[in-house]
Amino acid sequence: MRILVLGGGGREHAIVTSLVTSPVVTAVMVAPGNGGTAAIAENVSLAIEDGEAVAAFARENAIDLVVIGPEAPLVAGVADSVRAAGIAAFGPGAEGARLEGSKEFAKELMRRHNIPTGESRAFTDLEPALAYLDEVGAPVVVKADGLAAGKGVTVAMDLSIARDAVRECFAGRFGEAGSTVLIEEYLVGPECSILAFTDGHTVLLMAPAQDHKRAYEDDQGPNTGGMGVYSPVPIVTPHEHAAMVAIMEHTVEALAEEDIDYRGVLYGGFILTDDGPKVLEFNARSGDPETQVVLPRLKSDLAGAMLATAEGRLADIDLEWSDEWAVSVVLASGGYPGDYDTDMPISGIDRAEQVPGVIVYHAGTRLAGDGHLLTAGGRVLNVTALGPDFASARERAYEGVAAISFDGMFYRSDIGARALRGRAAWMV
Ligand code: GLY
Repeated sequence: MRILVLGGGGREHAIVTSLVTSPVVTAVMVAPGNGGTAAIAENVSLAIEDGEAVAAFARENAIDLVVIGPEAPLVAGVADSVRAAGIAAFGPGAEGARLEGSKEFAKELMRRHNIPTGESRAFTDLEPALAYLDEVGAPVVVKADGLAAGKGVTVAMDLSIARDAVRECFAGRFGEAGSTVLIEEYLVGPECSILAFTDGHTVLLMAPAQDHKRAYEDDQGPNTGGMGVYSPVPIVTPHEHAAMVAIMEHTVEALAEEDIDYRGVLYGGFILTDDGPKVLEFNARSGDPETQVVLPRLKSDLAGAMLATAEGRLADIDLEWSDEWAVSVVLASGGYPGDYDTDMPISGIDRAEQVPGVIVYHAGTRLAGDGHLLTAGGRVLNVTALGPDFASARERAYEGVAAISFDGMFYRSDIGARALRGRAAWMV
């Protein structure tokens, strides 16, 4: 099988790392890829949000399966163009990707199908949005409706922050993505993500994972794409897990009832409230960095599972997972999620990977012409470690982190720390 993977982050490096081990895979091309994928596959240059260009490239290169990593090409309908060209695509078409591309669409779908989620209202004008904020008060959550690379959400603990967030959206901070603004109920509890392969009928769940979205220690600072993650999640009760599984399955049924052909990963972002798990958001793709702790635990062939998903044959597949725990720490460029410098030489990855169980996934890296590895993004590396228990996986991850350096490197040293203290650590 010849596979084209779209994307260039840590998620795509983790996907490619699994795909190249498959006995049925003969070639993996990655567009644009990064310094890590360059070492194990062929990086190519391609306009990945242009469906016709992707389909033409896939045809010319005898690609059997296109795996779409990030949300932007999904929302742009790249999967539809690839399928129209008679080539299998892993990832929903534009209609299914609206689950992530429009928070208002997702909320309405949840309301129509009684899927538990927080109260919310959508606004397209500033004054009514500000009046509603006065009515509901703080704490409250303000979200840009469209794609904003994980940065369009403000958890406002007071009204002045909420008002500023609404004003910024309408002033164009997120472009068209902020022309509709959602004002949502602030829900209290630990967050938990569940990813599932689905072909629109069968749902194969992966283990839960918990991301750390805030930039700084103790969950302070602005939201990011994710600063670190672990899997499974020890604080989830069996009852909560069963409730999340039921919600994921019900959501796939809801999509089918609405005639939405959904083939790829469905990502459920939950908050574990006192009233049970509620959906914070759905994503139409695999999580980043969640993928970097989930895929290393997959013992089955990823390429076979992705092709079966794309071809609607997921019922034929069984997935086997290792019992190991996984922790991943994101190493970021100084200034992220705001402005940051790039082209900093990176050292120590080889030493980090000598720590037992450690795998370093590249996110924002590139290989310079002279072969040196340089930073090329906000989130630069994901140091993932597997271990027989949570504490040892965490220790190994941080041992790996200590071996790596680049100018301006920063990371959170508390990934998983709260979960190690148990559920009571969320009671404030
Ligand atoms: N880690 C959050 C996301 O992938 O959206």
